[in-house]
Amino acid sequence: MIAELDAINVYEQMANLAKNEEIRKVLLDIARKEKIHVAMFETVLLQTDREFLKIYSDYALARSRK
Ligand SMILES: [Fe+2]
Repeated sequence: MIAELDAINVYEQMANLAKNEEIRKVLLDIARKEKIHVAMFETVLLQTDREFLKIYSDYALARSRK
């Protein structure tokens, strides 16, 4: 997951530096796909790690009460 988050950061930084609009769009599309990879790993963690599921759901519930 760290590698996926790093990849998002790198692609978004590169997009911000790109002078060519087409290249910028391609880099942002790649960054979006890396976000899907994060979601895929997160989903597997939620399905296989009960502690992670508990922390995640407690956090989500706490945020919904604010
Ligand atoms: Fe990835």
